[in-house]
Amino acid sequence: MALLPFVLLCGFADFTGSLSITTPEQMIEKAKGETAYLPCKFTLGPEDQGPLDIEWLLSPADNQKVDQVIILYSGDKIYDDYYQGLKGRVHFTSTDLKSGDASINVTSLQLSDIGTYQCKVKKAPGVGNKKIQLTVLVKPSGTRCYIDGSEEIGSDFKLKCEPREGSLPLRYEWQKLSNSQKLPTSWLPEMTSPVISVKNATTEYSGTYSCTVKNRVGSDQCLLRLDVVPPSNRAGTIAGAIVGILLALVLIGLIVFCCRKKRREEKYEKEVHHDIRVRCEYQLDLVLTLNTKSSKELCFLLT
Ligand SMILES: *[C@@H]1O[C@H](CO)[C@@H](O)[C@H](O)[C@H]1NC(C)=O
Ligand SMILES: *[C@@H]1O[C@H](CO)[C@@H](O)[C@H](O)[C@H]1NC(C)=O
Repeated sequence: MALLPFVLLCGFADFTGSLSITTPEQMIEKAKGETAYLPCKFTLGPEDQGPLDIEWLLSPADNQKVDQVIILYSGDKIYDDYYQGLKGRVHFTSTDLKSGDASINVTSLQLSDIGTYQCKVKKAPGVGNKKIQLTVLVKPSGTRCYIDGSEEIGSDFKLKCEPREGSLPLRYEWQKLSNSQKLPTSWLPEMTSPVISVKNATTEYSGTYSCTVKNRVGSDQCLLRLDVVPPSNRAGTIAGAIVGILLALVLIGLIVFCCRKKRREEKYEKEVHHDIRVRCEYQLDLVLTLNTKSSKELCFLLT
């Protein structure tokens, strides 16, 4: 009879023992590379007298694989070398598991760690288990801000903000950092979008802007310098740049040409010189009917 209120209180609890896991089922989100703490605390009843066994299972998100044992506590020993995917990255956080803490840490999180983790505790006749969903997200990083189009007065162009990686959903926020520090009013509807479409640009738009990209686990930022200039200036600048690039190309071409020529010359110098000299001597001998010695000297000077 003394047991009756307890059973009523527990509602759906296990009737075969009073072991119960006190940590609620939950979803945990962490960034790639971080450590996930997966809690699993339990209480025992006086009738739970068997040996304590703790087992953590993982059913990976891709569903192709069956549940994998990832760490086990049995007969007062810890076994953690079951699952290659988590080798060396899963540990019990408590040094005294018998005290009712079966929580684990998974370190250096990877995207392949996404899945459902199940904590199973057994101390006969008591049994209990709890599931935790783990999601690993990638922080936004490598974000690039740039202008798509020409920054001329009266022209239309786009300001773009692109993170190299980052899990969805991503949130964007543009800010102006210089001058009035206020975004032009016509941009406000797009201040939380990855692209701002600028129409009929004016010099007042010039300044430094920042774009911040956020998701649930992190944020990243990039800066952009906008200089709205008259079209002629712009054309002049571009022409100047093109001339500069062309000159540089010509210079590089010349250097490459000379180097190659020099190398080729060095390589064949001996043979060629010898060849020329012999021909020269032969011709001179024929034409001038000089003696061989003087034609040799002349040819040496000529070549
Ligand atoms: C488990 O990870 C948490 C961070 O998520 C950390 O604070 C705690 O110290 C870690 N515990 C152990 C035993 O490594
Ligand atoms: C562009 O802006 C200028 C002054 O800011 C205005 O005079 C002109 O009418 C605008 N053009 C268009 C097409 O909106």
